[in-house]
Amino acid sequence: MSMSSVVPSSSPTISLSSSSITRKPLFLSPPFIRPFAPLQHRFKSRHVKCSYSRTNGEESSRSTTIDVIADVRSEKLVVLGGSGFVGSAICKAAVSKGIEVVSLSRSGRPRISESWVDQVSWLPGDVFYANWDEILIGATAVASAVGGFGNEEQLKRINSEANIAAVTAAKEYGVPKFILISVHDYNLPPFLRESTYFTAKRKAESEVLSRYPSSGVILRPTFVYGKRRVDGFEIPLDLVGEPWEKILSATENFTRPLNFLPASDLLFAAPVNVDDLALAVISAVTDDDMFGIFTIDQIKQAAKNVKV
Ligand SMILES: NC(=O)c1ccc[n+]([C@@H]2O[C@H](COP(=O)([O-])OP(=O)(O)OC[C@H]3O[C@@H](n4cnc5c(N)ncnc54)[C@H](OP(=O)(O)O)[C@@H]3O)[C@@H](O)[C@H]2O)c1
Repeated sequence: MSMSSVVPSSSPTISLSSSSITRKPLFLSPPFIRPFAPLQHRFKSRHVKCSYSRTNGEESSRSTTIDVIADVRSEKLVVLGGSGFVGSAICKAAVSKGIEVVSLSRSGRPRISESWVDQVSWLPGDVFYANWDEILIGATAVASAVGGFGNEEQLKRINSEANIAAVTAAKEYGVPKFILISVHDYNLPPFLRESTYFTAKRKAESEVLSRYPSSGVILRPTFVYGKRRVDGFEIPLDLVGEPWEKILSATENFTRPLNFLPASDLLFAAPVNVDDLALAVISAVTDDDMFGIFTIDQIKQAAKNVKV
């Protein structure tokens, strides 16, 4: 895990005075999920110069200074659709990890009165007409939570074309990582998987994987639960999602033999807590080794890896 979440990016010089200095590697590489793609390291680091004063318990007037140059990462995450249900959970989780966050959505700042909201730069705008100069310069990752339902044309436009436009822009601007919130296929029979919704999702996924073969992340959740805000009201989807997830986990051994049945995942695939999905995004932002396609269990595992 990188140090980016805990090391402030704004103070390049640190002076310490201590009798002993413990040296730890700045980058810790945990054993991590590496689905489908070869390992590749990327460094989004910048140099930080630290001056340490070593006294060895002697008088401070006789101390010597050691200059240490270290690589410390600072992250700037752009969340597309940050005002939505999943997007706002991503923004909140990123703020809690000390990551700089910019959100782009047509409605801009959501009507949420929680303190983390003030720490996000809310840009009102449409992915198709965005001023990417303002949004993407300096970004270290883009996470897209743009997607949804509607008629055939809208399904294509929001799930596929909007995300393809965003991936294209992110690549052009040299953003090193792109994370797409996609969807599980529910083990549906092929004729249903070929519906416009799933086809549009898979097209967007292909674009991410082809432009970001060694750093793109596709998260494929099922039903996402949490508190969804609609027109100022809160819909507690967790009242259904949480017990459902627990029951499925407790009965896993009995339901597993039924998994081969077409569409069985509509009943038996576990729902995903919106905060876990958001933490999986944070894991993707901060871990260079995390890329490829992530299923429900892998999303939950990735979330666990960054939970404190
Ligand atoms: N919720 C679930 O249970 C679930 C399950 C599986 C997968 N997913 C996927 O997860 C993603 C997020 O879902 P969600 O439930 O959070 O949806 P949501 O609440 O409707 O959020 C979608 C966000 O995208 C923004 N958006 C839409 N079109 C845009 C455009 N052209 N330019 C800029 N922003 C745009 C919306 O804001 P504006 O309208 O203000 O622009 C909103 O902030 C979707 O791709 C969805 O398919 C969701």
